[in-house]
Amino acid sequence: MPLIAPSILTANFLKLGEEIEMINSSEADFIHLDIMDANYVPNLTFGFPVIQQIKSVAKKPLDTHLMILDPDRYLEEFRDSGADILTVHYEACRHLHRTIQKIKDLGMKASVSLNPATSVDLLEDILPDVYMVLIMTVNPGYGGQKFIPQSVDKIRKLRKMINDRGLDTMIEIDGGVNLNNIGTLAEAGVDVFVVGNTVFSAGDPVAIIRQLKNGGL
Ligand code: DX5
Ligand code: ZN
Repeated sequence: MPLIAPSILTANFLKLGEEIEMINSSEADFIHLDIMDANYVPNLTFGFPVIQQIKSVAKKPLDTHLMILDPDRYLEEFRDSGADILTVHYEACRHLHRTIQKIKDLGMKASVSLNPATSVDLLEDILPDVYMVLIMTVNPGYGGQKFIPQSVDKIRKLRKMINDRGLDTMIEIDGGVNLNNIGTLAEAGVDVFVVGNTVFSAGDPVAIIRQLKNGGL
């Protein structure tokens, strides 16, 4: 069964408590937090005080996706705010190996993300060190974008790299996931699906999460 990580990027922030309660009461596996710095990506979201408040009511692990340059500067603050999984971008780190080790030393699960134009071949030497790889299936920055079709080959290639080496690294994808494509993508080898718009634009988000969990349409 696929793991589902609703992204609150397109949630109603005036009712954030209710949105988190909705995720708590659903079959979702993680709560996905998109942290943007208006520098690495052309958008700005929220930071530590908001994460802390979410953590105080969340019943699912916080899957924290950092779209910020040089994330080393803030790893400890993210841990202290309640991040369980911390994802950094390959393209935003000067010394990725060092960053990954530091995330693990701080007691979080370490994950690395690749933009659509970054090849999975670059993960060859870091793969055994990470809990998860997050393949961006849209360009990072905004919710509600269209899934980039070339991502499917990339997912298959990464799945093969992981299996050939006997690793248990998880594959997560982020962007443009919906009830129509989740089945094919799970078959291609994805373990965890970040889903924003499909969940938060729905009349009954709990029901949509259940449908996604069951492989979509
Ligand atoms: C984009 C974010 C995504 C986004 C996914 O930078 O990382 O998490 O919210 O949203 P949808 O599912 O709407 O494409
Ligand atoms: Zn994300």
